[in-house]
Amino acid sequence: MEEINVVAATKQEQYEQLIPQIISLIADESNSIANMANIVAALKQRFTYYSWAGFYLWDSKKSELVLGPFQGKIACTRIAIGKGVCGTAAHEKKTIVVSNVNEFRGHIFCDGDSKSEIVVPIIGDTKLFGVLDVDSHSYNSFDDTDKKYLEQLITLTQKKILLYL
Ligand code: SME
Repeated sequence: MEEINVVAATKQEQYEQLIPQIISLIADESNSIANMANIVAALKQRFTYYSWAGFYLWDSKKSELVLGPFQGKIACTRIAIGKGVCGTAAHEKKTIVVSNVNEFRGHIFCDGDSKSEIVVPIIGDTKLFGVLDVDSHSYNSFDDTDKKYLEQLITLTQKKILLYL
């Protein structure tokens, strides 16, 4: 098993080093569950300010999000479209950065220690497939740099994580 190896200072540099490593980590595997599991493991392992990182996947039978591969504490299993940060990002099909979760109306607390959050939707051919959700135990953990690189990560890995969905 290859190590995820990053020796870098800034957040930007860390993402720029980590993303190609993640792409190569999942390159030879076609199973989307395995690939999603390794993506969130690599992210959580690298970024110490992440307290939770995981996927919520679109359940077309029930028209809601259902918990997918994640790293961190146990979490809410299902989230209705339009509810919480995840359901809102899914509904609006755009990334949402929340600096202080207490100020986001309808935020769903899976972990009482969560302070800030970013949710990136996964869209293929305008269709919603799910979201990538990352939480932090500190306020203001996520900014435009996280948004840019997590969106890039989703775009670059999309074909490897949506195969069987
Ligand atoms: N806080 C999220 C719920 C998921 S947990 O953070 C893992 C939300 O408001 O949608």
